[in-house]
Amino acid sequence: MREAHVLRQSKSGLVGLVLAVAMAAGMAVGVAQAADEAKNVIAYRHNVMKGITAHITQIAMVAKGEVSFTGHVAANARAMADAAKTIPDLFPKGTSLDEVPDGNEAKAEIWKDWDKFTAAAKNLEAQATKLAEVAGGGDVAAIGAQLGEVGKACGSCHEPFRKMKQ
Ligand code: HEC
Repeated sequence: MREAHVLRQSKSGLVGLVLAVAMAAGMAVGVAQAADEAKNVIAYRHNVMKGITAHITQIAMVAKGEVSFTGHVAANARAMADAAKTIPDLFPKGTSLDEVPDGNEAKAEIWKDWDKFTAAAKNLEAQATKLAEVAGGGDVAAIGAQLGEVGKACGSCHEPFRKMKQ
C-alpha cells in the first residue's frame, strides 16, 4: 500500500516536473522564435525590395533601348504591383530600426504614419498596374514615361520612411 502510494506520488511529481520543463523549454523557444521572426521578416522584406528592383531594372533596360524585349514589360510591371500589395504585411510592429537595428532601414515614422505608408504602397501598386497597361502598346517612349512615375512611387515612400545606410 505504502509503496504504491509513494510510487504514485513520485510518478505525479515526475509528470509535474516533465511538464514544467517542457513548458519552460516551450516558452524559451517561443521567445527565441519571436526574436528570429522579426529578423526573418526584415530579411524577407529586403528580398521583396530586391525583387522589385530587379523588375524595374529590367524595364529600364527596355526603356533605354538596351534590349528590345518590350513584350516582357507588362509581366515585370505586374510582378511589381503584386509585390506592392504585400508591403504592409512586411512591416509588422516591432520591426523598426530602433527596435531591431541590425541592417534595418525602416524608420519609426512608418508606424506613426501608417495610413501614409500604406497609401505609398497603394500608389506603387497603381503606377505599376498602369505601366503594365501602357506596356501592351509596345511604345518604348510611353513605357519610359510611365516608368518614371513608378520610380517616383519608390522615392515618395523611401523619402519619409527609409533611412538609407551610409
Ligand atoms: C510603401 C513604401 C515603399 C515603397 C513604395 C518602396 N519601398 Fe523600397 N523600401 C522601403 C523601406 C521602408 C525600406 C527599408 C526596409 C528595411 O530596411 O527593412 C526599403 C528598402 C529598399 C531597398 C533596400 C533593400 C535591402 O536589401 O536593404 C531597395 C533596393 C528598395 N527598397 C527598392 C525599392 C524600389 C525599386 C521601389 C519602387 C519600385 C521601392 N523600393 C518601393 C519602403 C518602400
